[in-house]
Amino acid sequence: MDKLIIQGGNRLNGVVTISGAKNAALPILCAALLAETPLHLTGVAALKDIATTIKLLDTMGVKIARNGSQVSLDASDVASFEATYEMVKTMRASILVLGPLLARFGTARVSLPGGCAIGSRPVDLHIKGLQAMGAAIHITHGYIQASTLHLPNRRLQGARYYMDIVTVTGTENLMMAAALAEGTTVLENAAKEPEVIDLAEMLIKMGANISGAGTDVITIVGVEKLHGTEHNVVCDRIEAGTYMVAAAMAGGEVKLLNARADLLDAVIEKLREAGATVTSDKDSITVKSDGKLKAVNIRTAPHPAFPTDMQAQFMALNAVASGVAKVTETIFENRFMHVQEMQRMGADISIDGNTALVKGVATLDGATVMATDLRASASLVLAGLVARGETVVERIYHLDRGYENLEAKLNALGANVKRV
Ligand code: EPZ
Repeated sequence: MDKLIIQGGNRLNGVVTISGAKNAALPILCAALLAETPLHLTGVAALKDIATTIKLLDTMGVKIARNGSQVSLDASDVASFEATYEMVKTMRASILVLGPLLARFGTARVSLPGGCAIGSRPVDLHIKGLQAMGAAIHITHGYIQASTLHLPNRRLQGARYYMDIVTVTGTENLMMAAALAEGTTVLENAAKEPEVIDLAEMLIKMGANISGAGTDVITIVGVEKLHGTEHNVVCDRIEAGTYMVAAAMAGGEVKLLNARADLLDAVIEKLREAGATVTSDKDSITVKSDGKLKAVNIRTAPHPAFPTDMQAQFMALNAVASGVAKVTETIFENRFMHVQEMQRMGADISIDGNTALVKGVATLDGATVMATDLRASASLVLAGLVARGETVVERIYHLDRGYENLEAKLNALGANVKRV
């Protein structure tokens, strides 16, 4: 298994280009199943989860051509409507084929995603929403067996559905399902993440009738068919946030290209509160820091509040900032696994339920640590950048799921990171 070897202590200076968002590309790729004619995408990052999704769609009979960050998908003759356990167990976002398969083909057999490191992460709201639209759904032998063949015209029926927990992929699955349903669907308490908006914008270009994306009420008037289109995937705000925290912690001046400050208000606010200087124009962000930061309290919540996917990175920042900070995780029940790894590097963190108390220390000690989930592994790399001596981060396949060319991008900024 690959690992990263990091020599701490270098400042970061220079320019880094942010890739297309993983969490926008995943639903957008699955939306290809809705279209009668080819979909042409640009800005698709070279990430493990994206390769997994492309493989899943390929097994269904979608014809896919990929050239670097450009991907074309033709779902004109899909032959299989199934996502097997083997596929889903490696990536829970495979659940995003359920809505499109039901909407276009009236049938789907998708393995229930298992739990994952950060929490149980059920998909009950995805299922209840589709049932509200008339789908017949049975859970048997770990599979979701869904059908609309009993419905008028074998089509999902528009419905009003209130999601009692804000769910990003739940909102995306139901929005895609509703696009081809008969009648109007209103999704209430919908997720407002930028990736939901990017998916909606593409669906509208494909002929869908959607309004309200980005607010907590999304209205979708079903149409007969959807056609292909061209779409550039929105930039990855979490990748951008991760490099911004790296620059703030290590000290220096880093300019991020293909980055949008308007997607990162809560994160920028916290970086400024910590003492970094953040400036931006419409598609770039610059972070300047002397590496001496103040501890900042963090409380994660659905967008536009502070994103849970940036919690581990700010835990690393607080570990070496001056003062004491409270980090509260309200979205997932077990997203503090990076804490015990950071404690091995000398971090002073104590956990009480879903809140961690972080007392900044002068320096962390390089150590061998283990990545447990995508953003936790990123936070260990950040800690390694500022730790004294050498840090070895093991099991970095987690990192490769969400960060394109991480060590190359960091080394281009002056870091000393080797993959072995
Ligand atoms: C998306 O996951 C992201 N993944 C996650 O990013 C992100 O952390 C999460 O949203 C929250 O922002 C993708 O977009 C592919 P949720 P998702 O449904 O949609 C509960 C990363 O690092 N819930 O918004 O699976 C759930 O347990 C990943 O890139 C239900 O109870 O998250 C959680 O506590 C990690 N029932 C909360 O809602 C449901 O049916 C939010 O989950 C669905 C969700």
